[in-house]
Amino acid sequence: VFAIFGTCVDTPEFGEVRGLHEPTLVVVSSGCIQSLYRGRAAEESRKTLENQGVSVRVLHASEILVPGFIDTHIHFPQFPFTGAGIDKPLMGDDGFLVKYAFPTEESMSDLAIARSVYNAGLETLLRHGTTSALIFASIHCQASKELVDAAIRNRGPRAFVGKVCVDRHCPDSYIETTETSINETEDFINYTQARAAEAGHSPPYLVQPVVTPRFLPTCTAELLAGLSQLAERYKCIIQSHMSESIDEVEFSSALFEGKTDAEVFSDFGLLRAPSVMAHCVQMKCTEEDLLRDSGAAIAHCPLSNFFFASGALPVKQLISRGIKVGLGTDVAGGYSPSMLSSMRAAVLASKTLHFQYLPGAVQSSVGGLSVGAKEKESSKEQDDLSHFDALYLATMGGAASLGLQDLLGSFEEGKRFDAVLLTQVSTALSFVCRHDSREDLLQKILTLGDDRNVKEVFVDGQSVYSQP
Ligand code: GUN
Ligand code: FE
Repeated sequence: VFAIFGTCVDTPEFGEVRGLHEPTLVVVSSGCIQSLYRGRAAEESRKTLENQGVSVRVLHASEILVPGFIDTHIHFPQFPFTGAGIDKPLMGDDGFLVKYAFPTEESMSDLAIARSVYNAGLETLLRHGTTSALIFASIHCQASKELVDAAIRNRGPRAFVGKVCVDRHCPDSYIETTETSINETEDFINYTQARAAEAGHSPPYLVQPVVTPRFLPTCTAELLAGLSQLAERYKCIIQSHMSESIDEVEFSSALFEGKTDAEVFSDFGLLRAPSVMAHCVQMKCTEEDLLRDSGAAIAHCPLSNFFFASGALPVKQLISRGIKVGLGTDVAGGYSPSMLSSMRAAVLASKTLHFQYLPGAVQSSVGGLSVGAKEKESSKEQDDLSHFDALYLATMGGAASLGLQDLLGSFEEGKRFDAVLLTQVSTALSFVCRHDSREDLLQKILTLGDDRNVKEVFVDGQSVYSQP
């Protein structure tokens, strides 16, 4: 048993921020939050615990504890080319997938390479405060198992891992038959569920298998049907990419009788809770309805969207209409593995939704440009995300997207203790100021922070990373 006393901030609901103005005492036992007190009760319980000889760690004025970040969309085999290739379109013979993603993922067939990339990836995430990640591995079953083993050995971050499935429109050297794809997915699920049980953790476990059709252009109807059955039988999370970009949506529609992405996923039973669909920037209204009614969630990847999606996701409106949204980095379509970076990109992307088209007199009837100045004002309120809204997306929004809202995402009695201790440091961009309010201090870190601001990381009640 140990306890932490100080500023502990969380966002249990969209629009709600707790813990900025009073101290919190979190008592951790066997990996979970045994009890939690705020304000005066926190002060009193702290004394009681200390008298009982329980060690209470008192946070410094420059430190803030927040729930661990949950990255709802990341491609582990793409780490090696992070920062390159994003000037290309997603699709096409000279695109991001063909020129960068597929060849780099293919190199994971060499287990030594996979091991080194995956270990470095896990360490990178912890260093940036990510305590859970929904991961695309590669098509290789054995290499994907290596990632599962590495996450257990490393004691975090929690790795929800998908062996990627593709049976068409991929290079000859990076494709599977439908049968192999389904059989190896089943093998991978069995392996991962067995390893999770052996490792002795409670739900949501340190690792979980995820059913992962890459996206509609690379999956036949037969494959989608087979994967849907597996997800149902083994109660797995499902992940894919949906309605990401104009070129992708056109290609999918041509392959599936003019249907929208959401219709196709829905027809195959792949939209339900928990399914997590990355991007969804090019959705039609009917797709939004399918998401809401099914309980499927969106992994919002704003940084990647700036490059490939030709649009910004209206996150706040989607949440107000009952759709679950988490936040992802989409390494390497997104060039940063840092969820702090993804949070600030989400804030920026939300601002573009009410950009004025200049000259302002233009009242075109095309899409977003038809909107006049007055409507733009209302869009500002409807669409603007604050940094605290982004923190919600990165924590509780992600937990809810994964169906883990009762176990992760906020500081609540009975939840697992996954947390990041953020600290203020002077950097080239940020000054330490003794007079900062807690609110300003946290906003500074969310706006300008990086791995230097991540002092310590806890997964399942254990300290798994401390800044050297
Ligand atoms: N759609 C299918 N695969 C990918 C990928 O690797 N990255 C992105 N951004 N979109 C995809
Ligand atoms: Fe992606």
